[in-house]
Amino acid sequence: MKINEELTEKFKEAYDVALKARSQAHAPYSKFQVGSALKIEGVDQCIPGCNVENASYGGTICAERGSILSSVANHGKKKFEYIVVVTDQEEPAVPCAFCLQVLSEFVGPDFPIYLGNLKGITKEVLFKELLPHPFTEFTV
Ligand code: THU
Repeated sequence: MKINEELTEKFKEAYDVALKARSQAHAPYSKFQVGSALKIEGVDQCIPGCNVENASYGGTICAERGSILSSVANHGKKKFEYIVVVTDQEEPAVPCAFCLQVLSEFVGPDFPIYLGNLKGITKEVLFKELLPHPFTEFTV
């Protein structure tokens, strides 16, 4: 997919944070490295995340959840502004449903998600396009 030069320029700092985080990913099993950068209100530096795989497979943590957990631990419950996710795939890889569900705790339907590859950002999607109906509460 074609690089979106405008988005890549506008979110260059976040993109660079995601790219660097991706290079630190621990992905010996899938060999698929993912990096993310989460922008939160009032904090200049985006919060990096990378996938950290585990021999049990199920213990693997995705990049996006890494950024979310780190943001909350470091800065408390601040407003999340956007996230950038980078892989080495030509076509953009979207956050998995598990990460979207975790994100739903902190973001609204119009939260922007910027997807990219090693050359730049290719696409913007809104949270509601990927997970229109997150689980919100017990209904029993
Ligand atoms: N992965 C992420 O980091 N983010 C996603 O949203 C989907 C998948 C990671 C998990 C695993 O380490 C590798 O990509 C292959 O699934």
